[in-house]
Amino acid sequence: MPVTPAPFPAHRPRRLRRTSWMRDLTREHGLSRKDLIWPIFVRDGDGVEEPVESMPGVLRRSVDRVVEAARRATDAGIPIIALFPYTADRHKTPTCEEAWNPDNLINRATRAIRARVPDIGIMLDVALDPYSSDGHDGLVRDGRVVNDETLLALEKQALAQAEAGADILGPSDMMDGRIGVIRRALEANDFPDVAIMSYAAKYASAFYGPFRDAVGASRSLKGDKKTYQMDPGNTDEALRLVLRDLEEGADMVMVKPGMPYLDICRRISELGVPTCAYQVSGEYAMIAAAGERGWIDRDKVVMESLCGFKRAGCTGILTYFALEVAEAMA
Ligand code: PBG
Repeated sequence: MPVTPAPFPAHRPRRLRRTSWMRDLTREHGLSRKDLIWPIFVRDGDGVEEPVESMPGVLRRSVDRVVEAARRATDAGIPIIALFPYTADRHKTPTCEEAWNPDNLINRATRAIRARVPDIGIMLDVALDPYSSDGHDGLVRDGRVVNDETLLALEKQALAQAEAGADILGPSDMMDGRIGVIRRALEANDFPDVAIMSYAAKYASAFYGPFRDAVGASRSLKGDKKTYQMDPGNTDEALRLVLRDLEEGADMVMVKPGMPYLDICRRISELGVPTCAYQVSGEYAMIAAAGERGWIDRDKVVMESLCGFKRAGCTGILTYFALEVAEAMA
């Protein structure tokens, strides 16, 4: 509890703001490069880097370029990257088999990074949307996203990813029961050390728009994701989902999107669970666009936005700004 300050003039809060070293000395929350998780988009090809139109400054990279990016990330002090595939349409089916192909793009990229940049952490998303011709995170039957059948597919996907060398699996699909299924499969298949970061509080959000362009899911998505992602009006539900996922074996949890949901970050981190936030594609796009137009100072806004996550109690932050921030802090 904050103590009651002495009355003015004994208490002059401006004394502690007078110089930059004084501000440094009395700052409560700060960002470290070690807090950052950098999401990277992977595509096929060789020597390819292609801009994502709705995320200026963000690229889709072929596997060889992803390896280079991973090296740059460790050099800049970033501990972990998260890989997302831009899957060619010919690999998208209603049954999503490509998700558990040991040689799919994401698993190949993971192996290549493991071999050449052994010390960097690798996080992979568990969800079917990059592989689904319906664009949904789960399997679709008669126009509905079916839960229990999807769990079988997610289990296979998770095991293929653990096999490829992922350190953290991030189930982002929002099916019920998936954490338990994935945890049991990891234990039974000799991957006891693979951690699960559950996208526990994942909202049905319009802030994911640019990401769906980046992974090529916008053109396939039929309808919306409101029958499995959370309603933006809810907070208590987020706590229930976090507790459920912890009981099922999640090691840490995520809140997503980030900035519009800092209240959720605060409530969840107060439970005493390692809490990460995902500053999502739409948040990136807004800052990047306003920065490009000279309406805001991009660098300062980026740092301030990330500081907000620390203040809200987050231990880790997924952000597309990770590399530029880490390199600036190096
Ligand atoms: C898919 C997934 C999404 C994001 C991460 N994993 C999109 C969605 O749920 O539609 C969004 C990330 C971002 O917007 O940056 N399971």
